[in-house]
Amino acid sequence: MIDLFSDTVTRPTLAMRSAMAEAEVGDEQRGEDPTTRRLEERAAELLGQETATFLPSATMANAIAIQLFCGPGDEILSAENGHVLNYEAGGAAVHARASVRSIPTWTGVFGRNAVLQRLRHDTPHAPRPRLVVVENTTNAGGGRPWPVDECDGVLQAAHQHGLRVHLDGSRLFNASVALGLPSRRLGQGFDSVTLCLSKGLGCPVGALLAHGREWSGQVRRLKQLMGGAMRQSGILSAAGLYALEHHIERLAQDHRNAQALAEGLERLSQLVIEKVPLRTNMVYFEVPDRYSPDRLEQELLAEGVRLSRIHSRRFRAVTHLDIDSTDIERALAVFRSVCNRI
Ligand SMILES: Cc1ncc(COP(=O)(O)O)c(C=O)c1O
Repeated sequence: MIDLFSDTVTRPTLAMRSAMAEAEVGDEQRGEDPTTRRLEERAAELLGQETATFLPSATMANAIAIQLFCGPGDEILSAENGHVLNYEAGGAAVHARASVRSIPTWTGVFGRNAVLQRLRHDTPHAPRPRLVVVENTTNAGGGRPWPVDECDGVLQAAHQHGLRVHLDGSRLFNASVALGLPSRRLGQGFDSVTLCLSKGLGCPVGALLAHGREWSGQVRRLKQLMGGAMRQSGILSAAGLYALEHHIERLAQDHRNAQALAEGLERLSQLVIEKVPLRTNMVYFEVPDRYSPDRLEQELLAEGVRLSRIHSRRFRAVTHLDIDSTDIERALAVFRSVCNRI
């Protein structure tokens, strides 16, 4: 199977498994796991933040950030196709009793004016805008990295008006490698940063929430409350440390593979490939009305190529650690033969 469903399908490599097996461990819930502490320090450094907290998932990291900065009646600004708004089971409403106001943008990127236009008068009638969420790279926006200027503009506008800004940097290293900028440049200045270890970085489990030291106590409390505190988590953190050392630069290969896939698919008249100014590890495309997306999906699967289907006619292919350039050539050959039949 050439599995382009997501970058979450990767399996830990032998080298990663052996780092996990050798990890020094302790009781994380009591702050005694040395490998987890090392991972937290390293992640904070790479994300341009003072400290970081190891968590089971990026969804939990986002949920904790929301609870840090928002309470009942508060409002969060998010891109309309943002993960926090669409794929976290309404967590903002459940955990913080906050509402999410969507910013129209199919790219997932927005500018300072989008924030400034959504500030509200301080009246008893209106929700209180408290938090802006930036997702970099934007998943539903095509895996696109945020232009640094747009990001800086949003940070400045939000902070000037007393709003916090959370970065859902689940795929921040894809952005940093594609832009050729240090990850700390992309993470600094935010009030909190989520990093996911189990996407392009290839770990089996894990995420970090990076933040200022002043939030450490509250983050730990929320982690405990949500059932995210662990015991001998060093086994998982060792995978994270391994990935931070060995799996960041190689993301460039995922990006080249995705670009080769996009270029090959563009030659097929049955598909409309979504263009992005800078490709990371995703290729989105649509199937026009006159062709059958069901048939495309079923026949690709039957021939060993799996994608994810976003809407009835919109598909996504994601490259990752377990896909090499030969897989891309084979996938393109399958696409060519299937497209002739739909
Ligand atoms: C941008 C983004 N944020 C957060 C998440 C949540 O990650 P997890 O499912 O590992 O909790 C995802 C997962 O796909 C994502 O794409």
